[in-house]
Amino acid sequence: MNLSAYVNEIHLNNCIYNASGPKCTTDKELHAIGKSQAGAILTKSSTFEHRIGNPEPRYIENQLGSINSMGLPNMGQQYYNTLAPILSTTYQKPYIVSVAGLSLEENINIIKALNQQKDITAIELNLSCPNVPNKPQTAYDFERTQTVLDTIVPICQHKLGVKLPPYFDLIHFQQMAEILNQYPLAFVTCINSIGNGLVIDVDKEQVVIKPKHGFGGIGGDYIKPTALANVRQFYLLLKREISVIACGGVKNGTDAFEHILCGAAAVQVGTQFMREGANCFERISQELQVLMQKKGYQCLDDFRGKLQSI
Ligand code: DHB
Repeated sequence: MNLSAYVNEIHLNNCIYNASGPKCTTDKELHAIGKSQAGAILTKSSTFEHRIGNPEPRYIENQLGSINSMGLPNMGQQYYNTLAPILSTTYQKPYIVSVAGLSLEENINIIKALNQQKDITAIELNLSCPNVPNKPQTAYDFERTQTVLDTIVPICQHKLGVKLPPYFDLIHFQQMAEILNQYPLAFVTCINSIGNGLVIDVDKEQVVIKPKHGFGGIGGDYIKPTALANVRQFYLLLKREISVIACGGVKNGTDAFEHILCGAAAVQVGTQFMREGANCFERISQELQVLMQKKGYQCLDDFRGKLQSI
């Protein structure tokens, strides 16, 4: 049974790997992903300079999922740049750097710095960070998205993908896909957390995270149907060269199977990786293989995108 995958021309031995965010900030955490069965190593979204992020508590989970307002704590671009040779040669799997500058100028500077590093496999440009106070998400502003891509695509010498927030309106899927189809992107990752949810502790009659009066990005089971819908829509609307990477509500092999059925080329794990640690990649992969075997599928292409309508 074979879980190998292509994201555009990037080969993965395993289609399951980490989402940007949980446990991918420090060298120790990135080495743990490297040692695991994860098919790639993806970093925490990087700014130009190191950031400590928002005050704690800033991440809370319950049975159904998670809420976070981390505020982009990360080690800064140079750190992720410098780690590239050691991680890519030691683990022989793609090393992808997530980039989330707080302005277009900052993104330009990060991308230019990362251009110098040949051991980076790809950039995941985050157009959907919901947790920086007073900063809107780029990808909910279609004109701004076009301006950002018009600027970044020509200067980025690595394979480039974008991380999108969830959309909820059929017209918005079409409008965003029309924009993305204008560029030579390698992939689109759907979805980031559902922005600015609110989780409440009833006993304390209080919010559960400190930043932003308790508002934060929602992940986990809460968001799987939204994630599946976004993966499916972009799979149907994007040109074939742009792979769709699924992210949202994956905690077992069945969840991963559903995303691939919607058209995902690869599947990221966020909240469940935070809960379980790097062992989740092997477990979810094994569960996916068992399900494929039951169904008589040998590889992902046997069912990828083949979701049926009734
Ligand atoms: C953070 C959260 C996000 O959802 C994201 O895309 C980037 C950064 C954060 O709060 O650190």
